[in-house]
Amino acid sequence: MHQVFPFRIVWQYQKRKGCIAVSKLMIEGSHCLEGELTVHGAKNSALPVLSATLLCDGESHIHNCPRLSDVDASVEILRYLGCRVVREGDTVSVNTDTLCRCDIPDQLMREMRSSIVFLGAVASRMGKAKLSFPGGCELGPRPIDLHLKALRQMGMVINEFHGYLDCSVPARLKGTSIALSFPSVGATENIILAAALAEGTTVVNNAAREPEICDLCGFLNACGARIFGAGEGRIVIEGVEKLTGTEHHVIPDRIAATTFMTAAAVTGGDLLLRRVVPDHLSQVIPMFQEAGCRLRWDDANLRIQAPQRLRAVKSVRTMPYPGFPTDAQAPMMAMTTVSDGISIFVENIFESRYKHVGELCRLGANIKVEGRVAIVEGVPRLFGASVEAPDLRGGAALIVAGLAADGLTEVSGLRHVDRGYEAIEKSLNQIGAKVSRI
Ligand code: UD1
Repeated sequence: MHQVFPFRIVWQYQKRKGCIAVSKLMIEGSHCLEGELTVHGAKNSALPVLSATLLCDGESHIHNCPRLSDVDASVEILRYLGCRVVREGDTVSVNTDTLCRCDIPDQLMREMRSSIVFLGAVASRMGKAKLSFPGGCELGPRPIDLHLKALRQMGMVINEFHGYLDCSVPARLKGTSIALSFPSVGATENIILAAALAEGTTVVNNAAREPEICDLCGFLNACGARIFGAGEGRIVIEGVEKLTGTEHHVIPDRIAATTFMTAAAVTGGDLLLRRVVPDHLSQVIPMFQEAGCRLRWDDANLRIQAPQRLRAVKSVRTMPYPGFPTDAQAPMMAMTTVSDGISIFVENIFESRYKHVGELCRLGANIKVEGRVAIVEGVPRLFGASVEAPDLRGGAALIVAGLAADGLTEVSGLRHVDRGYEAIEKSLNQIGAKVSRI
């Protein structure tokens, strides 16, 4: 049976021991979250934008870059390729004058799944690329067939052998018309990166419409690219001869914002989020309203006031943007575990995105999964326990549940959480949570 220590004792133990290199969060639950938080830059924007700096001559300065392990991994890749990269606070500066390599070692590729987004940029700029094939991940198989098919259509020669992709561009990539069978975010990004310096015009039909795609295109256009229709299902990219590095501010992280909203909601809190784009939250806002929360927002701030007891949310179906984001499914599910009534989830994007369910049940949640559907019967309260983050957003869900639970919750596997949330315990403590990292 898991032993529950009072928060005070854990805190004193930590102080005595100093910093211990084990990634666990100890959460003393049931504290109402109140106050203000500034949302950090979007991980899913920062990574493709950093990759896009490879296409530019000279220096790019990327501001509002979150301090996350995935961003560190991107910086490592850029340095390995020969770029000079300097990080100062939230700004990452990339100078490509010394770019000299076109291979990315397996070890660096495995650091993060989204490393595949370097393929289009490296091959386009260097004329060849050699990188390892990204395998499956915590969310189940993550094929890249759509990326490869599109890049081949543009003239890239791609050989797959021994887990590696050996790519070459005989002359220059050629613009063409590409129809994606699914609006894959990663494939759309790789095509844009490859097409920006290609010869002629590339048209992407059924393109992903995520705000992060718009951010990538905004950066590239500021560097001299000619990309039209970002945010729509049809993107047109007129290839240009050259791009020049510039300054760019990464958009706020809509998934981090949603996670903090669920944290406020489960604790009956009152939270003001600063530096958000409410438009990017258009599919999650109605869910909080349905749960009984009061929301008000202007251009860049959003306030959420939660009731004492949340109501169930009838149906949450994950869909490509502008549908409900798959990344917000797990934190939203954590919120509904303590809501009054039954909430239904349908995960349409990834096969294995319910790994947090078993861990939420350890905390006392009542959830049944049948294929892509999860049925959550809200319980009046959760109880602290020891749980392990199965993946990034699943880990966030466990933290949200721990904030709602009676007693102490211990969340391990924080390497996942650190990929997507900047020092999450600091943010939560700033608004009244009692969370410590040991
Ligand atoms: C997905 C999410 C994105 C999220 C990211 C991180 C969607 C549409 N995309 O982006 O919002 O930020 O995860 O969690 O919600 N697929 C193929 N072949 C391919 C590429 C993708 O079959 O070549 C399939 C995937 O297996 C998956 C679906 O398409 O079922 C979505 O993939 P994709 O949008 O590419 O995923 P990410 O770019 O990782």
